[in-house]
Amino acid sequence: MKAVVCTQYGPPDVLQFKEMPKPQPKDHEVCIKNFATAVTGSDVLIRGADMPVLLGLMFRMMIGFRKPRRPIIGLVFAGEIESIGNDVTRFKTGDQVYGFTGFGFGAYAEYLCISEVESKRGGCLAMKPGDMSYEEAAAVAYGGVLAPYFLEKSAIQKGQKVCIYGASGAIGTTSVQLVKNLGADVTGVCSTKNVELVKSLGADSVIDYSKEDIAGRREQYDCILDAVPNGKIDRKKLKAQCRKALSPSGKYISIDDGSPPLKAEYLVQLNALFEAGEFKAVIDRTYPLEHIIEAHTYVDTGRKKGNVVITLKHGIT
Ligand SMILES: NC(=O)c1ccc[n+]([C@@H]2O[C@H](COP(=O)([O-])OP(=O)(O)OC[C@H]3O[C@@H](n4cnc5c(N)ncnc54)[C@H](OP(=O)(O)O)[C@@H]3O)[C@@H](O)[C@H]2O)c1
Repeated sequence: MKAVVCTQYGPPDVLQFKEMPKPQPKDHEVCIKNFATAVTGSDVLIRGADMPVLLGLMFRMMIGFRKPRRPIIGLVFAGEIESIGNDVTRFKTGDQVYGFTGFGFGAYAEYLCISEVESKRGGCLAMKPGDMSYEEAAAVAYGGVLAPYFLEKSAIQKGQKVCIYGASGAIGTTSVQLVKNLGADVTGVCSTKNVELVKSLGADSVIDYSKEDIAGRREQYDCILDAVPNGKIDRKKLKAQCRKALSPSGKYISIDDGSPPLKAEYLVQLNALFEAGEFKAVIDRTYPLEHIIEAHTYVDTGRKKGNVVITLKHGIT
């Protein structure tokens, strides 16, 4: 099968196309014919391994010292189940599914195998709603699994004032929609070019951080979700601003704190919202797998809106 492997840590051109053996499902696994994936913030982090020394050392111990031990990277997928292992009970051949691979990676390939049951290091798998395209499913999987974990930590209640800082990214666009759906009053913070996008997702108000400080409006938020990735902002300065804008019992939560479990249940909940027209996929750009280097180069700019999707056309070499 056609796959993209990460030959070493570095810039996007460390990614190379390689013919790899098609994986076979183990007893608890399904084998998925993959139609779409996405270049997530985590994918570019895994490829680049560009991080402070101590964090970099821990990362390399976990993922691989000179290159990822699992060479086919890619975290999210959407496709059709082609075959199943002997003990699979929840899915069947032909099911349209999507999900998150976890540390197994492997989504930059025509086929991947994943366990039908969640495990600590493994990923999660859910049915894809019929009216959600494969591209949309690949787009919503990353934020759809990560955002609910951070929002659960904040225990948001109806009527509370919630601020999503970094409202235009994958986790941010998901969070704005989920928090709005909980009945909270949502303020999104983003750059000028993304103000209209964040409004269109249901935010009650939007702060353009290039013009205003989050504390400038003298609002008191019950929760601020900081959805700006590590290294993209002076976190100390941002936290100080957030402290001024929180109510006395308000919570600050960063997407870089904690290790989110990858729960299929979050995708099932998202499916219901999608089917009810209360959640939409935010797709910035779509590239064919053949243009994966270009897609990584774009995501490396740190300026993607929502998600960058990759499509796989089977049979085309
Ligand atoms: N805790 C964990 O275990 C875990 C797991 C997975 C992922 N993560 C984190 O999640 C990240 C990926 O999140 P994502 O995909 O949502 O990122 P993303 O799509 O790249 O979004 C980044 C957001 O940050 C904003 N931003 C960038 N620079 C900014 C600045 N200087 N000031 C203010 N806002 C700024 C962007 O808004 P504008 O473009 O409008 O500026 C955008 O809204 C990973 O890199 C990692 O840090 C953590």
